[in-house]
Amino acid sequence: MTDCEAPFYRAVGDEVDVFRAAARRGLPVLLKGPTGCGKTRFVEAMAHELGRDLITVAGHEDMTSADLVGRFLLKGGETVWVDGPLTRAVREGAICYLDEVVEARQDTTVVIHPLADHRRELSIDRLGATLTAAQGFQLVISYNPGYQSVLKNIKESTRQRFVAIELDFPPVEIETEIVAHEAGIAVETARALVKLGNAIRSLDGSPLREVASTRLLILAGGLVAEGLTLRTAVQAAIVRALSDDREIVRALGELADAVLPPT
Ligand SMILES: Nc1ncnc2c1ncn2[C@@H]1O[C@H](COP(=O)(O)OP(=O)(O)OP(=O)(O)O)[C@@H](O)[C@H]1O
Ligand SMILES: [Mg+2]
Repeated sequence: MTDCEAPFYRAVGDEVDVFRAAARRGLPVLLKGPTGCGKTRFVEAMAHELGRDLITVAGHEDMTSADLVGRFLLKGGETVWVDGPLTRAVREGAICYLDEVVEARQDTTVVIHPLADHRRELSIDRLGATLTAAQGFQLVISYNPGYQSVLKNIKESTRQRFVAIELDFPPVEIETEIVAHEAGIAVETARALVKLGNAIRSLDGSPLREVASTRLLILAGGLVAEGLTLRTAVQAAIVRALSDDREIVRALGELADAVLPPT
């Protein structure tokens, strides 16, 4: 681990205590929450606090177990085994963060099972070897409950070994603090963005695929820090980002006009 600065993470509930306890026991963690609510930042902060390396794997639909475990590659005419990120984490005792495993193919869950339960083992068929996870190894899986559920691919017996932590968009005061800090803007400006974010989140029967996340609010705040007016920033970073549909964009623009302070 490098001695770089701790990632800024503002705790919202008891997630830090729960993660610490799970880490002490080497228990795997299931992180749920909508996009842009702070899952990645939370894991980065915890890894830093615990002094562990963090190995992140972004799930995608073509991801296979070889992408996690490793494969033989041809190097200078010779075939050599190259560890995948999961195997490296198992050997080094790092935190392995599988981001959006929902996307991954079924065979990836098969390698996860024995690692997630009391065995803490990773079997590498192609090497004919079974590794026991080094002290410090911890599996963290994230998923967005709004999408298809990863849980259906995970056996109930394994699933029940995961400690579940649910994150959501923070309450107004905390989110304001986060947006002000991350974007480098005045608290009052951040408060206006958070107010708009919450107005969008509470739209009834929203046709939006995603709501205005903390990330989007920070993005808009960043544009304000660069000198754009609040309205222009909101149009560019939030309103047009959330939808391509003209009608919806217009309606969101009107909502923004109603919620944001007059210029
Ligand atoms: N509690 C928090 N403390 C500090 N910063 C936060 C917090 N929550 C969100 N953020 C900020 O919001 C940004 C987006 O959060 P992050 O990337 O962690 O979201 P995520 O849940 O991992 O999203 P995705 O599912 O899309 O990967 C972070 O870069 C950080 O700036
Ligand atoms: Mg993330």
